[in-house]
Amino acid sequence: MDSFTFYNPVKLHFGKDALEKLSKELAQYGQKVLVVYGGGSIKKNGVYHAVMEKLQEANKTIFELSGVEPNPRVETARLGIDICKKEGIDLVLAVGGGSVIDCSKLIAAGAKYDADAWNIVQRKVFVQDALPLGTVLTLAATGSEMNSGSVITNAATEEKLSWGSPATFPKFSILNPAYTVTVPKNHTVYGIVDMMSHIFEQYFHNTTNTPVTDEMCEGVLRTIIATAPKLLEDLENIQLRETILLAGTIGLNGFLSIGSRGDWASHNIEHAVSAVYDIPHAGGLAILQPHWMRLNVPVNPERFAGIATRVFGVEASGKTVEEVAYEGIDRLAAFWTSLGAPNRLADYNIDDAKFPQIIEHAMQNGPFGNFNKLQEEDVQTILQNSL
Ligand code: NZQ
Ligand code: ZN
Repeated sequence: MDSFTFYNPVKLHFGKDALEKLSKELAQYGQKVLVVYGGGSIKKNGVYHAVMEKLQEANKTIFELSGVEPNPRVETARLGIDICKKEGIDLVLAVGGGSVIDCSKLIAAGAKYDADAWNIVQRKVFVQDALPLGTVLTLAATGSEMNSGSVITNAATEEKLSWGSPATFPKFSILNPAYTVTVPKNHTVYGIVDMMSHIFEQYFHNTTNTPVTDEMCEGVLRTIIATAPKLLEDLENIQLRETILLAGTIGLNGFLSIGSRGDWASHNIEHAVSAVYDIPHAGGLAILQPHWMRLNVPVNPERFAGIATRVFGVEASGKTVEEVAYEGIDRLAAFWTSLGAPNRLADYNIDDAKFPQIIEHAMQNGPFGNFNKLQEEDVQTILQNSL
């Protein structure tokens, strides 16, 4: 294990009565609240109404920013930052999925920063301070509700970058599984792929003696694999939604990378693809990550073979370590396809025309990935194999 200092200050309220905790939380912050949300799903499923009721009961002065896009744009965050500065907002309250929360993190940080918010995303400045942020999560996927990271797109430059700071951990997050039952099938699948992908990113590291986090990763993966097909047949099942909701949070709240440093190359390539083509984040991951895995089996075949037998049930006897490893990856790809995830870039009508641009974005900070440093030709291979 590597030496580590673990810090995660997010207070999580989870369960069917979680919103009841909002009143007590609101009492700790000032008068003016900016409610940030997306394209309107919260108005259809009653979450908007329930949250507004709590804000009104607490006599808060409410401001709203709606229309946060999936793959949130810096332009939208700038609108929120202007409201915060002009009105002297005391609390930013994100109500939605990862995109709404990520955008709200930039709003909270940008409100305390004098120059353009894109500098923050580009990590030209380190965020020391931010407005307090609370979240009401409506989609299980990113883990953004319990981490400090944020992923923002700049449509003008076709860039999609991740950034974060200890100041952008939410102060509190409210997770009611009932708020996720209206997530349509396709976004439910994307969420499941995204959380599994986060676990793989953290599992593939070069640190030795990590049995605790290895077992945690494998256990959460097995749980998701057992739950996902049932949920997709029964989207309104609260218990299945509850399991997936918690899995998404644990998937990226830092627990699984305690004492090791994950890879994150697949995410870097996906962000470069979705910056150029604006496809759903996890749709891109479902296509790309199995090819990242196939390319990297030679780095540590035993690690791939271990997960193949313990998570994907591959029978190892009579096979080489490499055969077991590749069979595990095939089973993962088949599992994602069986859920309805895409498996080729062609599924999004993407050909190789913009590969040079995607590769340039992905290589922006030089070779990347902690399990194995990818060079330009590796990215080319992964993209080519994904066509
Ligand atoms: O905009 P609305 O109308 O709310 O609709 C959303 C959106 O269309 C809808 N939705 C959300 N909750 C719903 C619902 N529809 C019905 N009922 C509900 N309860 O779902 C659609 C997708 O929402 P979005 O927030 O975009 O999805 P997700 O949570 O998967 O977030 C994706 C974004 O997060 C970034 C991705 O790159 C992408 O931009 N990521 C953030 C990370 C982080 N901060 O830690 C890590 C991830 O790896 C990821 O990169
Ligand atoms: Zn992700």
